[in-house]
Amino acid sequence: TRVDKAGYKHFMAKEIAEQPTVLADALRAYLDGNTIVLPDTLPDFAKIDRLTMVACGTAFYACLTAKYWFEQLAQLPVEVDIASEFRYREPPITARTVALFVSQSGETADTLAALRYCKGKADSIVSVVNVAESSIARESDVALPIHAGVEVGVASTKAFTCQLNTLLLLALHAAVQRGVMSHDELADKLGELRALPGLFNVALDRDPTMADAAHKIAEARDVLFLGRGLMYPLALEGALKLKEISYIHAEAYASGELKHGPIALIDKNVPVIVMAPRDALFEKTVSNMQEVMARGGKVCLITDAAGAEAAGADVWRTVILPAVDPILSPLLYALPAQLIAYHAAIAKGTDVDQPRNLAKSVTVE
Ligand code: G6P
Repeated sequence: TRVDKAGYKHFMAKEIAEQPTVLADALRAYLDGNTIVLPDTLPDFAKIDRLTMVACGTAFYACLTAKYWFEQLAQLPVEVDIASEFRYREPPITARTVALFVSQSGETADTLAALRYCKGKADSIVSVVNVAESSIARESDVALPIHAGVEVGVASTKAFTCQLNTLLLLALHAAVQRGVMSHDELADKLGELRALPGLFNVALDRDPTMADAAHKIAEARDVLFLGRGLMYPLALEGALKLKEISYIHAEAYASGELKHGPIALIDKNVPVIVMAPRDALFEKTVSNMQEVMARGGKVCLITDAAGAEAAGADVWRTVILPAVDPILSPLLYALPAQLIAYHAAIAKGTDVDQPRNLAKSVTVE
């Protein structure tokens, strides 16, 4: 398929902007009323003990996010690993394990090797891919398409949100199948999910605020991302995006780990990007932010209206997103993470769609 930039300066800008439409289409492909339409060749999640998820790069962070969903919503123990570690560690895989591989391209060499290692050991091999006719899709028992459409920018954006969407739908399906979520609860969650493309538009409307903050952030040598719970994997993804395209050194930490090391790095030259909707863990994050600000660190807080109010006035920059069901926050908060990286790269004048040393798909080791 040939795609063009459709008037945008970069493929990445186009792919960020089309997420409301792409997500709505992806939801339509998987939902029929309040039924999640999935292939009946999927394993029975009530009959398994463990889910092992394996991937590389951004797809790995989608898996880390999904671990929270499968554990919390479906009460299913989950293990997540980077493909290049998993394949050589040769971990024991029991017959009551589902092995799940996430890959945009479906061709990543390490992920494919990890999949082959699980064949004949796991109950079944499931993949979540963007390219339906890829090697990983072909070699799986069941391949679930993410419906993101062709992604050209090397830094993954819409494929990430669509991977999250597919994994969330699968976790909800598993939750119902395992008898830990009622059909009414499922209907509620699907209702919230259907409203998400509209909220994506609101998040994209924050673009000028994001651009302004990103231009300042681009002056820094090091940037720290913090998040707790579902926002922790997203902090990792935000740091990865920033490194990939702006070449600024960025690291992500679980907020609670701040005092175990990274706080030593904090001074007025280190912007700290905090992803924190006002959820059950918010108060703990506020105290982490205060520790940062007490050392002169500049906090850029991405939150909702209630979070902005509770955070107080000392925050350097605040980006306010709509309030959402906490399980959906990784999808919504992915957009500002992408926009910060994009605008920081613009400020730096780097090649946004073709960053140095990186490839869209890594088919060799
Ligand atoms: C490369 C790309 C990343 C991607 C990773 C995994 O490093 O630059 O954007 O996340 O490969 O790719 P996959 O196609 O398996 O999702």
